[in-house]
Amino acid sequence: MNYVIVYWSRYGHNKKIVNYLAEKLKEKNAETKILTTEEANPATLPEADYYIFSAAAEAFNLQRNMRSFMKNLDGMNGKKYGIINTHGMNKNRLKKMDKLLSKKNMIKVADVDFKVGKNIQSGNALMEGWEAKIDEFAKKL
Ligand SMILES: Cc1cc2nc3c(=O)[nH]c(=O)nc-3n(C[C@H](O)[C@H](O)[C@H](O)COP(=O)(O)O)c2cc1C
Repeated sequence: MNYVIVYWSRYGHNKKIVNYLAEKLKEKNAETKILTTEEANPATLPEADYYIFSAAAEAFNLQRNMRSFMKNLDGMNGKKYGIINTHGMNKNRLKKMDKLLSKKNMIKVADVDFKVGKNIQSGNALMEGWEAKIDEFAKKL
């Protein structure tokens, strides 16, 4: 299987999550490509069996770079996706991600969210057990 992972991360949590996910997927002999929303072109993403999107909640919404990336996706009809959202408050932004991707006729396979703890700016605010949650997520892909 072949995976393209697109993420946005201010303090490194989403980056840490997707790097760990890619290691897990490689254990299944998958090919993975990790790109930031700035590195990837939403209109010409490389071919993949699955697309993974990972980003934070910011300003009571999905973080804006990821939001605009998803709005600009093109040619994704029928492609499968998994989504990851980190958030500091109680509400996650998975529904927003689903809404944007369903407009592109993409098909959801898996989702997972992580509430981050205090000291977000340290980049070490993921709560205990986050790796196990990603292990479960990876099994669905
Ligand atoms: C400017 C800013 C606004 C934020 N707004 C929200 C918010 O509205 N809701 C929320 O749950 N978390 C909010 N957060 C917390 C982020 O979700 C958290 O910093 C992020 O999940 C950490 O992931 P990252 O290190 O990959 O960016 C905000 C953080 C920042 C820096």
